[in-house]
Amino acid sequence: MRGEVSGDLLLIGEVTDVRGTKVKVKVYSQANEASVFYHGELVRGVSVGGYLRLPCGYDDVIGVVEGDYQQESRAVASKGADGREAPGSYLERYVDVSVFGSFSSGRFNRGIEVLPLVRSKAYLLSPKQLAAVNSPVEATGAGFRVGELVGHDGVDVRLPFNALFASHIGIFGNTGSGKSNTLCRLFTDCLGQRAGCGSSKFVFIDFNGEYTAKAVLCHDKEVYGPSTRTGAGAKIPVPPGFFFDVDMWAMLAKATEKTQRPFLKRCIRKAGAILEMSDPGAYLRGMVRKLLEDYCGCGPAFDEQREDLVRLFSLVPGVDVGSLERAIDSIEVYQKYNNALHKRDSGKLLYSPADVPEVFSDLCYESMDYSSLASDRPALLEFIARYRFIEAVRSHTITREHIAPLIQRYSAELREASKLYEPCISGFKSDVSVISLLNVNLEQKKIVPLVVAKTLYQFQKERGQNERGSSAHLVIDEAHNVLSYSSQRESENWRDYRLETFEEIVKEGRKFGMYLTVCSQRPADISPTILSQMHNYFIHRLVNDEDLRAISKAVSFIDSANASMIPVLPQGCCIVSGTATTYPVRVQVDVLELEKQPMSFDRDLAKAWGVG
Ligand SMILES: Nc1ncnc2c1ncn2[C@@H]1O[C@H](COP(=O)(O)OP(=O)(O)OP(=O)(O)O)[C@@H](O)[C@H]1O
Ligand SMILES: [Mg+2]
Repeated sequence: MRGEVSGDLLLIGEVTDVRGTKVKVKVYSQANEASVFYHGELVRGVSVGGYLRLPCGYDDVIGVVEGDYQQESRAVASKGADGREAPGSYLERYVDVSVFGSFSSGRFNRGIEVLPLVRSKAYLLSPKQLAAVNSPVEATGAGFRVGELVGHDGVDVRLPFNALFASHIGIFGNTGSGKSNTLCRLFTDCLGQRAGCGSSKFVFIDFNGEYTAKAVLCHDKEVYGPSTRTGAGAKIPVPPGFFFDVDMWAMLAKATEKTQRPFLKRCIRKAGAILEMSDPGAYLRGMVRKLLEDYCGCGPAFDEQREDLVRLFSLVPGVDVGSLERAIDSIEVYQKYNNALHKRDSGKLLYSPADVPEVFSDLCYESMDYSSLASDRPALLEFIARYRFIEAVRSHTITREHIAPLIQRYSAELREASKLYEPCISGFKSDVSVISLLNVNLEQKKIVPLVVAKTLYQFQKERGQNERGSSAHLVIDEAHNVLSYSSQRESENWRDYRLETFEEIVKEGRKFGMYLTVCSQRPADISPTILSQMHNYFIHRLVNDEDLRAISKAVSFIDSANASMIPVLPQGCCIVSGTATTYPVRVQVDVLELEKQPMSFDRDLAKAWGVG
């Protein structure tokens, strides 16, 4: 028998105070055991973080215990024979309960319509009721097990597929707290049970090569592992128009708004127009001929532009830089003849366009492979930019110092991009793609996720309106690398552009079926807009003050009992809060089988060193 009402094993006390959603319950002195046997199952007794059921008319209000303390009972204290009783003997136990939902017609609903009354009874939840509160899937259908409810042995936490995967997810926690395992756990189940049905694309951005092993996530994933060092490794598919996106390239090349951007725009447009011609190779040959003809009467310009010309022609496939330099060096400015160009060995002077073939004969410009140049987009774009630069400096339409830095940055970005991306119409081959950035340099690590996010968002935006069953899921582990708000090394323009792209996905993506999952050790570094727009949060152990503040600002409905647990959560344990749960729940996430775990295991150094 338990409590003062006989026969009810789960009765633990009664309500003494109701102030809004904060309720005070006096716990019966008989209800102080750590656990109770209920129909053969173990139920945890009253304690902080536990749940209570407070019947109210036909409904049951459900609340979570947030505080547990004892108070002196005044009625008893004043009753003593001499009025000087030891206060200890009259202490009574109270718990503070915050109510958040109710059972109505056997179903659990988040939110409350009625509040309990003073003197309402308070009951522990039976294991079945506990599962219904913590696993909304019981009520909504399809779902999967994430782990076990902390403190309640054997109570599963099951989350519904829809509410979880059709949402933006944030997974936060210090290093080694179990984020990657949680991320992997969620998506392994999702991909396993989905088994290729539907038209969803999953793209994982993997900074450290943790998800590339065969059994991780799923077997039929495609792994892209480009390298900026060697240019080897599978390249990331991008849409055919990728190299012609003026906004993006102006940003990447850090083009200034007034002078450099218009120049870059003209170059990119020109390259696009050339590619649409029936014979781009022949057109390029004609352009080169024209460039050389225009040195008639501008001899000194040729002298100044030697380096630029070497760089320009060395972009054409098959050109040998040594012979190219020798060919250019064989031509000089002849001061005696009006500064005209003059071929040293033959003595031929450049007076009119008709002299070009002979003066520039060593350059072999007519027989260069312009068709191959036209088929290599990054090389063609650099060629056009350098060509127009030489032309414009020579005709004094631009100042060399204004455009030269842009040309340098633009060509460096194009060269890096040619090692990383492959324009193609079909996009990602498999439904599940992992992009490993292990061999990508620091600068490109920030750019690749942005490019992938932009292209995936564009792709999903186009098909999302018509294909109602389609979705795109972008998963970024170590997301502080790309979503940080306060990076010192980059320009403000670039940072704003980067954040705006991701903020747009977070704010507008849901309508088109584009969902973002981010995993980070530093929630305080992440843009507050992104942090606050997540639908579901998995919060692992966090100890830093700033991070805790950022989380408490973003996840306002987390209760004080759970919030105070964040710094002391054990490995693999997290607080799940958001649209997929009825109330923030503390879950010990199931650990995956060894071969399915991400490559991020803790090292057993004592064993490796043979000590201890
Ligand atoms: N649910 C879990 N149960 C038990 N152990 C776990 C669990 N999750 C993770 N671990 C252990 O913690 C270690 C680190 O986990 P994980 O790589 O997921 O952490 P992390 O938060 O992603 O770290 P980092 O921020 O450095 O990437 C793993 O090697 C694993 O052994
Ligand atoms: Mg990790």
